[in-house]
Amino acid sequence: MKLGMHTLTQRRGLLFGGDYNPEQWPEEVWAQDAALMRDAGVNLVTVGVFSWARLEPEPGKRDFGWLDRLLELMAAHDIGVDLATPTASPPPWLGHRWPETLPVDEHGHTLWYGARNQFCPSSSVYWERSLDLVTALADRYAGHPALAMWHVGNEYGQVCFCDASAAAFRSWLRERYGGLDGLNEAWGTTFWSQGYSDWEEVLPPRAAPYIVNPSQRLDWRRFCSDQMLAHFRAQRDVLRARTPGVPVTTNFMGLFKGIDSWAWAEEEDVVANDCYPEPGDPLTPARTALTHDLMRGLAKGRPWLLMEQATSAVNWRPHNLPKPPGQFRLESLQALARGADGLCYFQWRASRFGAERFHAAMVPHAGPETRLHRAVREHGRELRRLSGVAGTEVPARVAMMFGWESWWALEERGRPSDRLNADEQLLRYYVPFFERGVAVDVVPPGADLDAYALVVVPNLFLVSDEQAAGLDAYVRRGGVLVVGPFSGVADPRAHIRIGRFPAPLREVLGASGEEWQPVGEPVRCRWQGGAEFTADTWTELLAAEGAEVVAEYASGGLAGLPAVTRHRHGDGLAWYVGTMPEPAALAALAERVLADAGVTGVLPALPPGVEAVRRGEVLFVLNHGTDTVRVELPERADDLLTGATAEGSVTLAPREVAALVPTGGAAG
Ligand code: GAL
Repeated sequence: MKLGMHTLTQRRGLLFGGDYNPEQWPEEVWAQDAALMRDAGVNLVTVGVFSWARLEPEPGKRDFGWLDRLLELMAAHDIGVDLATPTASPPPWLGHRWPETLPVDEHGHTLWYGARNQFCPSSSVYWERSLDLVTALADRYAGHPALAMWHVGNEYGQVCFCDASAAAFRSWLRERYGGLDGLNEAWGTTFWSQGYSDWEEVLPPRAAPYIVNPSQRLDWRRFCSDQMLAHFRAQRDVLRARTPGVPVTTNFMGLFKGIDSWAWAEEEDVVANDCYPEPGDPLTPARTALTHDLMRGLAKGRPWLLMEQATSAVNWRPHNLPKPPGQFRLESLQALARGADGLCYFQWRASRFGAERFHAAMVPHAGPETRLHRAVREHGRELRRLSGVAGTEVPARVAMMFGWESWWALEERGRPSDRLNADEQLLRYYVPFFERGVAVDVVPPGADLDAYALVVVPNLFLVSDEQAAGLDAYVRRGGVLVVGPFSGVADPRAHIRIGRFPAPLREVLGASGEEWQPVGEPVRCRWQGGAEFTADTWTELLAAEGAEVVAEYASGGLAGLPAVTRHRHGDGLAWYVGTMPEPAALAALAERVLADAGVTGVLPALPPGVEAVRRGEVLFVLNHGTDTVRVELPERADDLLTGATAEGSVTLAPREVAALVPTGGAAG
């Protein structure tokens, strides 16, 4: 079996811990830390993420002694180490001696050392130096009892526009297009006299006087993701060759635009994420759940790791709200409920110096005898009661499709409206399912959809012929499909598909359009039965071509024309939504398509603010609201967290969680 989270959890159970930066502390503190960690149930620490300058203080001069001692200490306390390759922050000597390793922005400005991430992913010196150090680390710690996992780099996302990057981009393009003719055709360079006559003329999309070619920018994004992935892969291969049984991961940043996480996840043993929910936003619980579901999708349904979260305030928002007591526990358990088998934090001990002095940690500046650390300890210990959850899956009959290429292509300058965004559109559609306790898998374009009764495509601006054919076939075989506005518009080169839109989905949807019409003010729409709702931002001049009109516009220039359609196609049904309905209307739509698909939530009715999700045989119920709520249950259940038995209902104070198994069940 492929390496994965089970490689860690089989030995250690659910994982609990965080980033540990021992180089910031004298060694006396390490011993206290190890004891405190044990006491709190910590069994995994990520070490060495930013240790390059400590490990290699001068070019070629290595100092691993301190790390040897630290790993021994962790092994003695039976704490696993997720050992990082410190490639996210090269030491000043690298940039000083080899300035070509420093990244250059689109204006040609060099980004200097003094922070972190100052590397060019295409610099040969950076590659050489980083891989040398990774090789030395792997050779030294192969077989070490503390070594539990490899953590490659950190939050990959660095982009560079320098000449070396330009050269690497050209090689990537040659590979893709063969000759310049192919490139010119794909980029549509007859527009604005952009035709290339020599490969040397081809550049990254550097700052230019006006809107840069969208196809060039799309390829650049593809290239940047691939180039960083190549660096990840090169490190991974060094590590795998020396420590074949040790999983390799890196940490994602949720719905982060900079890398195509679908492609990356294929190359990892463990999918890991960093998650810092925005405290003041009422949509945060849903947005976070969506991110967790995305991670589960990236892990192909298998468990994933919450690599970083905060116990309280972060330091990098302009106004950093602390979390009220109970909040980080609620967030941790939310991740667990949605498939995480490890709950880790940034970071173990709060830094005294440096840019993150004011970032919360598991041990605050005030020390371990604090409200916050006590809560950390209790949470670490209570996880033992949930150990039976490890390895289990979250069953879902609904899929939402999301792809990075389409996201990139959609959100270029010079489109009908900047206000239609792929990630926000995804969230809009996700919310009503979240509120109904309906589990959703996030899947990539082109995914095998056979396991799903309902597939929602909130936006798929760029679609390949094969992906479109896959959606068509899914419906013909009996699936229910919902497609959101401005989908099926462009091909993989970001060229507009000619004909009525969405050209490749026209047949399956039984509807098509001829104009996109963003609106300034919301418009009124009317369901077939007469009830009205509003829609905002976006409308389309549509005609039904066999589809039934479920809702039409009731005001504005499109009054009387279709806003939402539903089409029987083969054995299935395909819905098209040409606008952005208000949340209540989207919720009504969700109810109808769920009924079409025969899917229901895990509980019959959920009070507002309550999340419910089933993982394995445990039903997690989480109260994100500010009121105490009573949630009706269909059967008698035991709460693994409190040990109490719930008869017919469970009452949850704000931020409380129940982990319920049918009375007599075996999990836990
Ligand atoms: C992450 C990063 C950590 C730390 C943390 C602070 O982006 O991986 O090193 O900076 O944010 O929230």
